[in-house]
Amino acid sequence: MSLDDPRTIHLADYTPFTHVVEQVHLTFRLAPGATRVISKIAFAPNPDSKGGAFFLHGEDLKLIHARIDGESVIPNAAEGGITCDVPEGPFTWEAEVEISPQTNTALEGLYMSNGMYCTQCEAEGFRKITFYPDRPDVMAPFDVRIEGELPVLLSNGNPAARGDGWAEWSDPWPKPAYLFALVAGDLVNHPDRFTTRSGRDVELNIWVREPDLGKCAFGMDALKRSMKWDEEVYGREYDLDIFNIVAVDDFNMGAMENKGLNIFNSSAVLASPETATDANFERIESIIAHEYFHNWTGNRITCRDWFQLCLKEGLTVFRDQQFSGDERSHAVQRINDVLALRARQFREDNGPLAHPVRPESFVEINNFYTATVYEKGAEVIGMLKRLVGDEGYSKALDLYFSRHDGDAATIEDWLKVFEDATGRDLSQFKRWYSQAGTPRIAVQESFDNGTYTLTLSQSTPPTPGQPDKEPLVIPVAVGLLSPNGDEVVPTRVLELTEAEQSFTFDGLSAKPVASILRSFSAPVVLERDQSASERAFLLAHDTDPFNKWEAGRALAKDVLIRMITEGAAPDPALLTALENVARDETLDPAFRALALGLPGQDDLAQTLYQSGRTPDPLAIYDAVQQLRKAIAEQLGTTLSDLYDDMAVHGPYRPDAGDAGQRALRQAALGFLSLLDGGVRAQSQYETADNMTEQLGALACLLDIGKAETALAAFRHQWQEDRLVMDKWFGLQSGLAAPAKAAAAVHRLTEDPGFDWKNPNRFRAVMGGLAMNAAGFHDPSGASYALLTDWLILLDPVNPQTTARMLTAFETWKHYDADRQGLIRENLERLAATPGLSRDSSEMVGRILG
Ligand code: ARG
Ligand code: ZN
Repeated sequence: MSLDDPRTIHLADYTPFTHVVEQVHLTFRLAPGATRVISKIAFAPNPDSKGGAFFLHGEDLKLIHARIDGESVIPNAAEGGITCDVPEGPFTWEAEVEISPQTNTALEGLYMSNGMYCTQCEAEGFRKITFYPDRPDVMAPFDVRIEGELPVLLSNGNPAARGDGWAEWSDPWPKPAYLFALVAGDLVNHPDRFTTRSGRDVELNIWVREPDLGKCAFGMDALKRSMKWDEEVYGREYDLDIFNIVAVDDFNMGAMENKGLNIFNSSAVLASPETATDANFERIESIIAHEYFHNWTGNRITCRDWFQLCLKEGLTVFRDQQFSGDERSHAVQRINDVLALRARQFREDNGPLAHPVRPESFVEINNFYTATVYEKGAEVIGMLKRLVGDEGYSKALDLYFSRHDGDAATIEDWLKVFEDATGRDLSQFKRWYSQAGTPRIAVQESFDNGTYTLTLSQSTPPTPGQPDKEPLVIPVAVGLLSPNGDEVVPTRVLELTEAEQSFTFDGLSAKPVASILRSFSAPVVLERDQSASERAFLLAHDTDPFNKWEAGRALAKDVLIRMITEGAAPDPALLTALENVARDETLDPAFRALALGLPGQDDLAQTLYQSGRTPDPLAIYDAVQQLRKAIAEQLGTTLSDLYDDMAVHGPYRPDAGDAGQRALRQAALGFLSLLDGGVRAQSQYETADNMTEQLGALACLLDIGKAETALAAFRHQWQEDRLVMDKWFGLQSGLAAPAKAAAAVHRLTEDPGFDWKNPNRFRAVMGGLAMNAAGFHDPSGASYALLTDWLILLDPVNPQTTARMLTAFETWKHYDADRQGLIRENLERLAATPGLSRDSSEMVGRILG
């Protein structure tokens, strides 16, 4: 559980596999309770091997027989697999095993969802399918034969042959086992085609259950746009004759980039105007892009070992963020990405689960598919790009693709292409990959004789196992505004490399107002004591849209913190500033909607904790409610004008323009509902022709405690739609009044629709509770106990989803002694559960510290 858990795997212990795999042939004889998997694998000695026994991973496999070069062998059982005496030269391994997809509730390996067979092999699920060197540095071409009485039988690569009750697939591109996939079921397809720029005609399909066929068009459009974008921006073309996407209802994460056969959580691909919100459409577009982009960053070039996970994930997140920015709005995209980074990654970095972008050890790799690896991993690439420039970045990427195509690569390889392409020494920059924690940057300013001096100092707080930190290379984008609001120094990237460093700007006629960390040029906390008037000035005049928004956010945060800690009243200056932004028609509605969004309660709790205070979730909740009321009262007319003006007419379209208008209108409705008793929300609920407006209205009604009728109507309308009902569950648990949250969520768990083995449903309810900060931290401890009870129940069924949900407790040390005591009790109760999974025991051990 702790650092000395005997199950710990270390980056430093990497050794190559004893053999290489030249070809894999798999036959599946599908049967729900007893599927036979027959493998035939050509092994040859690996010239890079350091020796050692021949070992194949395997878990929960019933071995029927094994042969080497046609002769029966009896392998020896070993921890997590088998060993076997093998010939000195090349040989063929054959094995037949039996597995039971039907009883596989962990949703890892081959399992069943609604009568359909599907797989999830990343990270280490292939070993539950057959004996194999289940490690990403072993890459091989796969041929697959599927036998089963189902209309659709899919695997990776190109279709090779098919007949009645069987199909064969051949994937020419060598790949690691984690990219293997198989799907078999009674599915229908939404077809399309794409011609690559070199003229390859590619068949595209999204495979779904029949009732979902009307929800595929948007995903397909997003796929084609992604394919085109990767050609135009990265010069990367698709490399097979077919690309399949399958929607699955039971899935532990968002989606999976299996070669030529992406498998998606149905929530991450299915959308129609009536059933999906603007936010859902946006998320689907980015996940489709993400999985598609993995074809080059992840599949053609994969990771040597799981410690290098950020090599594919950080880069692919960076690429999908670029894509979404290009397709929609860079400003809005950046703000949303930073909001998510702060909410999830900063939170992780500031607690017991903090770890480097490239971790150095793990017990269960599934626990490291984290915001740090993904989102901070993407930020690190954004910094690299800023430091070497756009041209340097594109040269480095070209080199990466040409040098490492077909490789299982490392972060060292990645940085080396940047060094070789740009001549820049990245040895100090590399610390971003090994040093955990969010750096703080303190700011001092002086102005003398036309010269403005900016002194920046950096420090990174200690994190588990890393008490002392070294200075990082931090690109700090800065612009200067003159007191009349004109930009006098356009954005310049300062490179902060020392613990403390000064930068000067000459020839200024007056002391400027600095806009620091433009576009959020580095994932750091800027510690800057700035007056409310300077913040309001930047909110009004900054030319950098991110910092413009940030100034408003900082202003609101300062006001809220004073309300929470000093009982101050809502500051009229904030209300005026917000009103000005809300009314400013030169600003994109989506931006204005973001500017009207208040800091989240968990964000405020983090901020309080970081400034040495103990957050009281109820006091935070009250202050936010009070400020919302004050905004509603002060901006009443502006808001009702916006509500009317932002109405979108004509048929629903999910594009950024319409979505931005709806977002601003929804922000207005949220405030207005506090004043009008829900009249507008009720009528919007009744007339909405799309889920964005229907759900938005429902949320407002819930917020003011007037949703009973609408909730019943919603359920009646949508009870057959799983994804919509997830929203019904999630909204109620997320918006339950603090003191009643545990009781309300308990009631939801007794609802016949609470199918807790379905990860989406479980997450809707329990994730909703965890995000309901005041409700989760109810002083009685009822919510802690409720969540823990359910995690104890879920752990043996689905360890991955259980372990993931445990992050609800990662901030526990920030709270008062009573709450800490209650949480500790629950975590210890969970830790003491007999047979607790490796996933959950590692998490609970790390959280307890
Ligand atoms: N590679 C997938 C993606 O980022 C996610 C796989 C997550 N796997 C896991 N075991 N948590 O697109
Ligand atoms: Zn990914």
